[in-house]
Amino acid sequence: MESFWESVKKPFFVLAPMADVTDAAYRKLIAEIGKPDVTWTEFVSADGLYHTRELKKLPDAENPLMRDLLYTEAERPIVAQLFSSKPEMIEYATKLCAELGFDGVDINMGCPDKSIEKQGCGAAMIKNPALAKEIIEAARKGFVAGSKKEYDVVPVSVKTRIGYNRETIDEWIPVLLEMKLPALTVHLRTRKEMSKVAAHWDLMPRVVALRDVISPSTLIIGNGDVKSVEDARQKAELFGADGIMLGRAIFGNPYLFAGKTTEDMSTSEKLSTLGQLAEYFDEIQPAKSFHIFKKHIKAFVSGFDGAAELRAQLMECENSKEIRSVLKL
Ligand SMILES: Cc1cc2nc3c(=O)[nH]c(=O)nc-3n(C[C@H](O)[C@H](O)[C@H](O)COP(=O)(O)O)c2cc1C
Repeated sequence: MESFWESVKKPFFVLAPMADVTDAAYRKLIAEIGKPDVTWTEFVSADGLYHTRELKKLPDAENPLMRDLLYTEAERPIVAQLFSSKPEMIEYATKLCAELGFDGVDINMGCPDKSIEKQGCGAAMIKNPALAKEIIEAARKGFVAGSKKEYDVVPVSVKTRIGYNRETIDEWIPVLLEMKLPALTVHLRTRKEMSKVAAHWDLMPRVVALRDVISPSTLIIGNGDVKSVEDARQKAELFGADGIMLGRAIFGNPYLFAGKTTEDMSTSEKLSTLGQLAEYFDEIQPAKSFHIFKKHIKAFVSGFDGAAELRAQLMECENSKEIRSVLKL
C-alpha cells in the first residue's frame, strides 16, 4: 500500500521538529490555526522509550517521553522523530510509534547536541554510514510490525545535514538515497556550522541532482532559515526542492502556515493565541515544567507598545490560569 508521502502535493511545507518548542501543546494550536502539510514531533530517544517502558515499567500516562508523542487527529499526517544508534532500540521505538498510529517515523541524523552525539546519534551518524543504513532498515522492520501493513515504500524518512566538519554532499547524501527513502530532509549546513552561518541554499540543486540519478522517487525537503510560506514557495521553485521545512519561523507565530508573518499578527492575536497555548500546555503536559513555556512568552509578547512590561509580568506566572488572568482572557 501507499503511505501519505506518495500523495503529498508539491511543493509542500512542513513543520520542523524542535525540542521543547513544537511540543504536543504547540502542535495542537498550530494544527487549529495554520496547519502545515506534514507535522513532525520533537525528537524522542528510542533508548529512553525502551528503558522507561520495558525496564522501569513506567505507566505510559506518567512517562514524559510518551507525553512528547501525544498528538491530535488534526495534526495528520504526523511523523514521529526518533534518535538512537542502536538498531534494536530504533526497531522497538518505531514499532511503538506505528502502533500509536503515526503516519511515519523520521530518524534524526543531524542533531549537533553533544549529549546526543556522545551516544553516537544525531549528526554523529554522518560519520558512520554503515550504521546509518542499519538504523534505517531496523526502523522499517519496526514500522511494518507495528502498523501491520505492507507498504510499497515504508514511511521511514531521515533528517540530516550536508556534512560533518565540511560539506560532503557527494559522499553522504548518496548513502541515504541508496536506501530509497520516501523523503529526505536536508538542513543546508554542516554539523560544524551548527546554526551560525546562513544555510547554503545554493547547494540544494546538487542534492536534487543526486536524487534524480540515485532515487527519483525520494522527496527532497530543504531546511534552513526559511522565514515564511512565501519564502518557502520561492526557495522550492528556485532550488528544486519538493518540500520545505520551517523551524524557527514558528516561534511566536502559530499562523505561519496560514501565510502570516509575525508582523501580520495583531497584538490581540498574539495575546489570545498565547493564552490558548498556555491552556493546552497545562492540559496536555501538566507534569512538564512551566519554565519551558516561558520561551513562548518571549516569542509572542514582542513588537508592540508595552510588550516589555507585559512580558515581565507574564514571566512571573507559574501556570496557564495566571497567564490568562494577566492577559485578562
Ligand atoms: C529549539 C530548537 C530545537 C530543535 N530540535 C530539533 C529536534 O528535536 N530534531 C531535529 O531534527 N532538529 C531540531 N532542531 C533543528 C530544526 O529542526 C531545524 O533543522 C533548524 O532550526 C533549521 O531550520 P530553521 O532555520 O527553519 O529554524 C531544533 C532547532 C531549535 C532551534
